[in-house]
Amino acid sequence: MRIDIISCLPSLLASPFDHSIIKRAKEKGLVTVHLHDLRDFTSSKHRNVDDYAYGGGAGMVMMVEPIANCISYLQKERSYDEIIYMTPDGITLNQAMANGLSLLKNIIILCGHYKGIDERIRETFITREISIGDYVLSGGELAAAVLSDAIIRLIPGVLSDETSALTDSFQDGLLAPPVYTRPYDYHGQKVPDVLLSGNEKEIEKWRFDKAVERTKKRRPDLLE
Ligand code: 6GU
Repeated sequence: MRIDIISCLPSLLASPFDHSIIKRAKEKGLVTVHLHDLRDFTSSKHRNVDDYAYGGGAGMVMMVEPIANCISYLQKERSYDEIIYMTPDGITLNQAMANGLSLLKNIIILCGHYKGIDERIRETFITREISIGDYVLSGGELAAAVLSDAIIRLIPGVLSDETSALTDSFQDGLLAPPVYTRPYDYHGQKVPDVLLSGNEKEIEKWRFDKAVERTKKRRPDLLE
């Protein structure tokens, strides 16, 4: 998979892809992440990427031209399955969306800033608008990092059996059950005995029951 991220603050995204699972996915050649600085696609002397909003009001708006130039430049090289705009008024990201996106070949992720982007970009280029939750961030960069991470770990071949996504929270519509490691007894808090029983069936049942219990308590909406 190839991910092209367009941003006016690409340095914010310098390190999120250089660690752990994502780093290994890159090393295995399963994903490449390319950052593009919007300012490289401006034609003005001052490399402006935003301007005042027509109709007035607070906040600047990201201009059509730099974004259109950058997307067109990328589209000349290859075709894209999705051009995603990160925005708090998009559809809220969930695991099912991440699963679907992880099967694509080429995607562009556009990070917004200021009061948003000129509506004509959304009409002309954007195929999906995604939010990462009901709160506002100062820009789309961190949201793009969250989306990319959620997608990349699901790309076939990225996770081993040991780190399998199959047991993740949300993957089966349930939150994950509690987990334990050594020591068995931490100041009197003991690991549930079933986990030491060696009885795989009993352990699986315990984990399922705990997952249901936790989901009922914390996220009853997932069980509806
Ligand atoms: Cl995608 N962008 C911004 N700026 N804020 C957000 C968001 C995105 N998702 C939730 N809040």
